[in-house]
Amino acid sequence: MDKFRINGGKRLSGRVAISGAKNSALPCLAAALLTPKNVTLRNVPYVRDLITMRRLLEDLGCTVLVPELRTHEINAGTVENFEAPYDLVKTMRASVLALGPLVTRFGEAHVSLPGGCAIGQRPIELHLMALEKMGAKIELQNGIVKANASRLRGADIEFETVTVTGTENLMMAAVLAQGTTRIYNAACEPEIVDLANLLTKMGARIEGTGTPTVTITGVDALDGADHRIIPDRIETGTFLIAAAITRSGIELNNCEPGHLLAVIEKLQKVGVKIEQTGDGTLFVSGDGKLRGVDVATAVYPGFPTDMQAQYLALMTQAEGDSVVTESIFENRFLHASELQRLGARIRMSGHSAHIHGPAPLAGAQLIASDLRASASLVLAGLAAEGETWIDRVYHIDRGYERIEEKLRGVGAEIERVKG
Ligand code: EPZ
Repeated sequence: MDKFRINGGKRLSGRVAISGAKNSALPCLAAALLTPKNVTLRNVPYVRDLITMRRLLEDLGCTVLVPELRTHEINAGTVENFEAPYDLVKTMRASVLALGPLVTRFGEAHVSLPGGCAIGQRPIELHLMALEKMGAKIELQNGIVKANASRLRGADIEFETVTVTGTENLMMAAVLAQGTTRIYNAACEPEIVDLANLLTKMGARIEGTGTPTVTITGVDALDGADHRIIPDRIETGTFLIAAAITRSGIELNNCEPGHLLAVIEKLQKVGVKIEQTGDGTLFVSGDGKLRGVDVATAVYPGFPTDMQAQYLALMTQAEGDSVVTESIFENRFLHASELQRLGARIRMSGHSAHIHGPAPLAGAQLIASDLRASASLVLAGLAAEGETWIDRVYHIDRGYERIEEKLRGVGAEIERVKG
């Protein structure tokens, strides 16, 4: 297993290009299953989860051409297998995004139940409830969800919990259903809007994405499309914190600041200077005093759970006390104990971490546990004096495109040691 070796304490300078959003590219690749025509997706991030999704589409019978690293040309005209197998789903829960498209276009889908992961149990019963309301017959056999339907019917569906991929699965199921589907308490993330923009280009009729109520009028067939994936707001936030935690000034290009306003506002309260130029560039500087500021994660447009671990790392270097509360997932503090090994002063209490800063960090041997926890450990390693080793960096490769090269490009001393 590859490791990162970081020699911390270095100031950063220069510019970083932000990649396309992993959590938009994943549903957009799945959406290509909805049509026999070609779907071209651009600005697809070169990360492990997208390689896994590409493999899933090919296993289902799609052809996926990659004329250049970040462009995918998908054709689902020859899909004859409707199963997302366990060995793929267990490595990437987002494989469940094949469920809606397969059922609505082919009337059949067999998708392995994803099971839990490091950050929580992560059930998909809301996805299944929605499909049943649209007329799908759902059976669970040997850990496989078997969904069948002659043709899905539009329905009014309220999610008792906001679910991002649940909203995406339902949107994709509804675009080819008979009649109108209204989704209440829908997720409002930018990635939902990006998926709807792709589906609309394909001929779908969708209104209200980005708000809690989405209305979809089913059509009989969809066309192909050519679509550019939005920038990754979580990668952007991660690099904002990389600058802040190393007291540096860097420039981020190809951003969409409007997609992470809660993060920008929170970091500005902490004392991080952030300016935007209007053409997708952010200037960030962390050379001032950093103050401890409480945060609680929330559904969009609140502070994203995917930024909680990175923010917690920053709070270990801020002056004073702060409380970081995780409201979305039940077990998303695995990074806290690893940060304590560097010298961070963190006390856990229920769904909150109580941090006292600033605590000087000294390099240590760390183990990554999940995607965003890994990012948190890298950020802390950049601030720690001396050498930090991080094992199991395959977790970070799932969602960040060559993060060690991007960080080295702005002066960090970080290298990947092949394991
Ligand atoms: C998406 O996961 C993202 N993944 C996650 O990003 C992100 O953390 C999460 O949304 C929350 O923003 C992708 O988009 C591929 P949810 P998802 O369904 O859709 C509960 C990353 O780091 N729930 O919005 O799986 C669930 O347990 C990843 O890039 C049910 O109870 O999350 C959780 O507590 C990690 N029943 C809450 O809702 C259901 O049927 C939100 O989950 C579905 C969800």
